[in-house]
Amino acid sequence: PTIYCITPTYSRYVQKAELTRISQTLKLVPNVHWIVIEDAMEKTDLVRNLISESKLITTHLVAQTAPFEKLKDSNPRIKRHRGVEQRNAALKWLRENLVLGRDKGVVYFMDDDNTYSIKLFDEIAKVRKVGVWPVGLVGGLNAEAPIVDAKTGKVTGYKSGWLPNRPFAIDMAGFAINLDLVLEKVEATFSYEMAKGMQESEFLSFFTTKDQLEPLADRCTKVYVWHTRTEKPKITGNITGLEV
Ligand code: UGA
Ligand code: MN
Repeated sequence: PTIYCITPTYSRYVQKAELTRISQTLKLVPNVHWIVIEDAMEKTDLVRNLISESKLITTHLVAQTAPFEKLKDSNPRIKRHRGVEQRNAALKWLRENLVLGRDKGVVYFMDDDNTYSIKLFDEIAKVRKVGVWPVGLVGGLNAEAPIVDAKTGKVTGYKSGWLPNRPFAIDMAGFAINLDLVLEKVEATFSYEMAKGMQESEFLSFFTTKDQLEPLADRCTKVYVWHTRTEKPKITGNITGLEV
């Protein structure tokens, strides 16, 4: 099965560095299709060239975050949704270009700034319906993880620093979904209407229930992905003609 990795990305100083890291991780993974969606008016040469030089199987899309959502940037108290339109554009692409029954795969939301072990992709390849695993360095904890019952092997709850009582208290990096389900449930999308921090939980609710989750990464005892965030560099000068 193909692993469809969906990566929203936006222009900033560290963008090329982030995408270089992600693309070179994916070079080590068999059977990947990388879907990169730029949060921009038009596709940029920087991203176009980077993904073409990667020689990965890629799809390059563009979908701009609504201006009203971006505006919240200036107000630090209102955290805005990120990646909503971009992930929806990728879901739309999957539903328009792939065929239920013909194309087999797993869908994974792979943000451009996280750090991914190649071991994670062996776990993603095992997903039958919806697989889950721990995510390191997130929500104020060393890791967030589904709680797995030792006897039944089922997920009974979540260790999470942020609303652990959500139906699915799982970061975007902590789950993957079988392509069949994504193609079947055409109504499953992300939305600005969802409460802050509820995108993952609401999206997963379209597909599954807690007791159906498949705990991977050694019954959720291993961390193979980290919610790293890159410090914004303080740049005081630009050398013209150098693409960074
Ligand atoms: C957390 C979650 O891990 C994200 O998956 C979730 O989208 C996000 O919260 C959220 O607020 O909804 P966080 O590190 O805060 O992650 O978010 P970012 O890494 O800044 O953004 C997530 C993705 O959206 C990244 O791939 C980023 O490149 C992209 N993004 C971010 C845009 O496309 N446009 C933006 O203006 C900002
Ligand atoms: Mn991030």
